[in-house]
Amino acid sequence: MTQEYFSDLNYSLGNEDTDMEVAIVNKLKPKKVFTIAGCGSRALPLLSCAPDELTCIDVAKPQLLITELRLKTLETLNYQDFMTFWGFSPYDKTDFSDRRKEMFQRLNLSSEAREYFSEYFSRVNWGSLLYEGKWEKTFSIMSKVVRLILGKHARKALEFDNLENQIDYYNNEFPRGKWKLILFALGNKSVFNALLYKGDFIKKNVPESHFDYYREAYDRLFTQGLVNESFFMHLCFQGKIINEHGNTVEADQETFHACQAALEGGCKVNILNQDLSTAAKNLEGQNIDYASLSDVPSYFSGDLEKNFMQEVRGMLSEGGVVVLRNYLREPEVDTSGYEEITLKFSEEIRSEKVQMYKVRIYQKVSD
Ligand SMILES: C[S@@+](CC[C@H](N)C(=O)[O-])C[C@H]1O[C@@H](n2cnc3c(N)ncnc32)[C@H](O)[C@@H]1O
Repeated sequence: MTQEYFSDLNYSLGNEDTDMEVAIVNKLKPKKVFTIAGCGSRALPLLSCAPDELTCIDVAKPQLLITELRLKTLETLNYQDFMTFWGFSPYDKTDFSDRRKEMFQRLNLSSEAREYFSEYFSRVNWGSLLYEGKWEKTFSIMSKVVRLILGKHARKALEFDNLENQIDYYNNEFPRGKWKLILFALGNKSVFNALLYKGDFIKKNVPESHFDYYREAYDRLFTQGLVNESFFMHLCFQGKIINEHGNTVEADQETFHACQAALEGGCKVNILNQDLSTAAKNLEGQNIDYASLSDVPSYFSGDLEKNFMQEVRGMLSEGGVVVLRNYLREPEVDTSGYEEITLKFSEEIRSEKVQMYKVRIYQKVSD
């Protein structure tokens, strides 16, 4: 079972573009939001639609602790201090360790979170935690291989501010042969298991090969939006976000202030150490309007895979919406009692800046 993998601090920056779901919730305006926590960067920006309640769940304690840390920095710090604390560009160029320590003292953290991060920050000399997750560290290693093989192109790919010019470069100058070699060498199950998942990597059921899955996703990232505006592409080519254009939506000033306003407006945030099935049972009849399940169901199998949407249905309001980010595996799941509404959000899905997920969006329909 993948519990082994989901027990450590795997994510710290995150590997989903939450901007897609910020756009969706600001269209739907749900009052009660339920979400997988991850590292919090996929959850807290959903506050920007000013819900009455946000419930974040996760099976991994370190993920819940970093989600709590993110929430407290959002509640306590002003925008510039938030950017400095997390080390988002351009606040990553200077050593702010003393400032970070001082800000940390001001946060109203649980004793467990204070103890965990006091120890963690001491270990990293009060440096930024943004790239401390196992996933982020794995991509930092992989990006070294990318720079070795692509040379100057690992930087040039991030230098375009015009899509037409970028596509022309991608089609005529970008070393596609070397790029395919990298995808072939790194984009497969054994490498991901060796470097990160230790045997828990997803059991693919999509028809295309791992190579084609990643090749097509990167094709979209080079042709549907500016590479320089994708934090994921910054990580792939440079191991970190190297300029402000690459910052994620949680670092967006307008989104930051909308989230702070929601908290000041009384939005209740619950952070729960529960798995999806248990949480769905506990929240039965609670009229959840929006449920963001990330790619968690892609890790499911057997009865859990088949029945999770029926479990979730019990906690949803009439018309409640569920968003899945399927990764390499489309769950073989019973979706009776739902209508699929994915096409209503095709523009938001097309603009998503990671493009590694097959997004499916469902709406509960009455019995
Ligand atoms: C693949 S990750 C998604 C993380 C996300 N990509 C991010 O950027 O933060 C799945 C997250 O769900 C959690 N998780 C895995 N299985 C779960 C389950 N059955 N119920 C609740 N959380 C689960 C993991 O601990 C992890 O934080």
